[in-house]
Amino acid sequence: MLQKLPFNNPVLTASGTFGYACEMSGVFDLSRLGGIIPKTITLSSRSGNPAPRTFETASGLLNSIGLDNDGVDDFIEVKLPYLRTLGTKIIVSTAVKNLDECAALGEKLQAAEGIDAVELNVSCPNVSGGVDFAADSKLCERVVAAFCRNIKLPLFVKLSPNVFNIGEVAKGAESGGASGISAVNTCLGLAIDWRRRLPRLGNFFGGLSGPAIKPIALRCVYQIFRAIKIPVIGIGGISTIDDAMEFFVAGASAIQIGTANFYNPKAAIQILDALPAALSELGAKNVAEIVGTLETIQNHQ
Ligand SMILES: Cc1cc2nc3c(=O)[nH]c(=O)nc-3n(C[C@H](O)[C@H](O)[C@H](O)COP(=O)(O)O)c2cc1C
Repeated sequence: MLQKLPFNNPVLTASGTFGYACEMSGVFDLSRLGGIIPKTITLSSRSGNPAPRTFETASGLLNSIGLDNDGVDDFIEVKLPYLRTLGTKIIVSTAVKNLDECAALGEKLQAAEGIDAVELNVSCPNVSGGVDFAADSKLCERVVAAFCRNIKLPLFVKLSPNVFNIGEVAKGAESGGASGISAVNTCLGLAIDWRRRLPRLGNFFGGLSGPAIKPIALRCVYQIFRAIKIPVIGIGGISTIDDAMEFFVAGASAIQIGTANFYNPKAAIQILDALPAALSELGAKNVAEIVGTLETIQNHQ
């Protein structure tokens, strides 16, 4: 039995690719989205990584922003009042450096008005200390449990594809008290300018995103869906209704649109509009009916 998700519909926009939403306000009616996940915020402000921070490869965007943000207090005072007016669900993305930060961050977010859920980003590949929590099931369980002690809001844990066994890490998050899993963040990569013998990014490594990572993300969603009972939100290279449907069948109960927002800011709404017709092709009325219904080729013959 799939749990009900606290969103308006299953199409959300991914953290770091939709700003704090005011940047996108003229593009379409944002209240139509299932929810918005603004750029990750941290307890204290962070200036992020040295430039260049993005590089477009032959097959995907490589970024190393480094969680540049003005901190949780600024978010609550300056950005949240606007987000609250949008008429959609606001899922606040946050990250911690260590377990000690969980209490202060959790308390501030829980006390703020107008937050519908929290996404704990334990998977940013561009900051030291950030990715460690997603690399190990026990560490993941500990950080999620520490966070859950301080908030009652639904907590989604965003995992990294850069691990050996993502199903095990998801189990750790589930045992720690997560309400759901967001999968995945970017794939760690490196781009090189060989003539100058230099990396293309100021921080050397970056996270690859866009259609190139969709097969990796689909594999992760499928493995996580089979490992846990809480819902999975699929992320990674989704730009069309076909991509979205593949994620639902793999095991995602909702999806997030990321890099596609940069070259087609209407991608999320186009997917939402195309959803009823795609569902009816499978004889389904809603997404829940098709979540995790992937069959084996042998059984299908
Ligand atoms: C420029 C850029 C910035 C990002 N910043 C964040 C961030 O602050 N927090 C986060 O959880 N994910 C961040 N991401 C990762 C996306 O939310 C998403 O998980 C990833 O890009 C894979 O999805 P996509 O292929 O649809 O872009 C960022 C991605 C990009 C391209």
